Amino acid sequence: MAVSFYDFKKLHHIEMQKNILEKFGSIIEQNAFIDGKYNKLFEEDFAKFTKAKHCLLVANGTDAIELALEALDIGKGDQVGIPGITFHATAEAVLNRGATPVLVDVDPKTGLISVDSLKRILKQTYLKAIIPVHIYGMPAPINELQEVCRDRKVAIIEDAAQAHGTILSDGVPVGGSGNLTTFSFYPTKNLGAFGDAGAITTQSDELAQKLNSLRNHGRSSQGLQFFGRNSRCDHFQAAVIHQKLPELAAENDRRRNTAQAYLQKLIPTCPELHFPAQDFIQTSSWHLFPILLKSRDQKLKLKAYLDQYKIGNALFYERSLGEERPLADAAGERVHAIQFAERVICLPIHPCLSDEEVNEVTTRVREGIKC
Ligand SMILES: Cc1ncc(COP(=O)(O)O)c(C=O)c1O
Repeated sequence: MAVSFYDFKKLHHIEMQKNILEKFGSIIEQNAFIDGKYNKLFEEDFAKFTKAKHCLLVANGTDAIELALEALDIGKGDQVGIPGITFHATAEAVLNRGATPVLVDVDPKTGLISVDSLKRILKQTYLKAIIPVHIYGMPAPINELQEVCRDRKVAIIEDAAQAHGTILSDGVPVGGSGNLTTFSFYPTKNLGAFGDAGAITTQSDELAQKLNSLRNHGRSSQGLQFFGRNSRCDHFQAAVIHQKLPELAAENDRRRNTAQAYLQKLIPTCPELHFPAQDFIQTSSWHLFPILLKSRDQKLKLKAYLDQYKIGNALFYERSLGEERPLADAAGERVHAIQFAERVICLPIHPCLSDEEVNEVTTRVREGIKC
């Protein structure tokens, strides 16, 4: 039996499609294509969901990071710490601002940014900001990072592109910590639009006001104070994510149940596997289900076996950031990130997986690694 990595057909059930199409109809009827009522409604609802004071929709998750950096006046000549395990857009946003990415190594067990690595780097290098990434949906250690960064005046921007509904260690939802937090609503995310969209959450009125201008060509009620750019989220995308937001918590619970089932089936039978998100069962949004094998070779063999049986899988990430050509000479630390990327492969964990599909995946994984 084939198991797909995503299943949009089941996710976007008929009832949801009907509601979204009705919203699209009303948008067309009213010629309200930009900054419409669903932008406002979504921003209010997502701010509540994340316990943030403000949510600002933007065009995509990469812009969200760039705009957050810009709002903090981070640009040319500034150094910004980023973890070696993330989608490369985190680095791209830093480079697009003219700033310099510095690689912070990751915790070898989780792939999350390492607080120890950050401490070592800060002894030699001043970072104007760091961008911890809640990778795979796991919560990055924000409290510990805040302790390290506070006295040194290092700003924190949380990249939560994969973490809609993740809970931080102090029980605060990702987005509500007080740090600028950026989200992507790319269609494969836990909360996905029917195109591109992104958002920034903040507790600061001042930053919200600045971001509000920056995303819309610098416009403000006081007239043009500075140039911004066009990073508006269109009304259609806002309508889609507004319609889908109320289902997110239940979908994340279904992902959590699948994660639990995978762990129950694989831990006792595959002692050689390591599960990076194992300690975050209740707090991860389980955007992805990563497993670590013993070596790159074993990972590629498992991948070939899963491909043969049409079991969805993905190498997120095939290489750590420091191994990508544009970052080959980047400063910082990268040893654990390289090893993590060599060994990691992700199994399907979308919210519509059936018990039968979960069984099929675990059976094929066990066969594939011959345990
Ligand atoms: C960790 C991370 N950061 C940033 C992004 C960029 O988001 P977008 O593709 O919406 O620009 C993504 C998603 O693709 C991501 O996974």
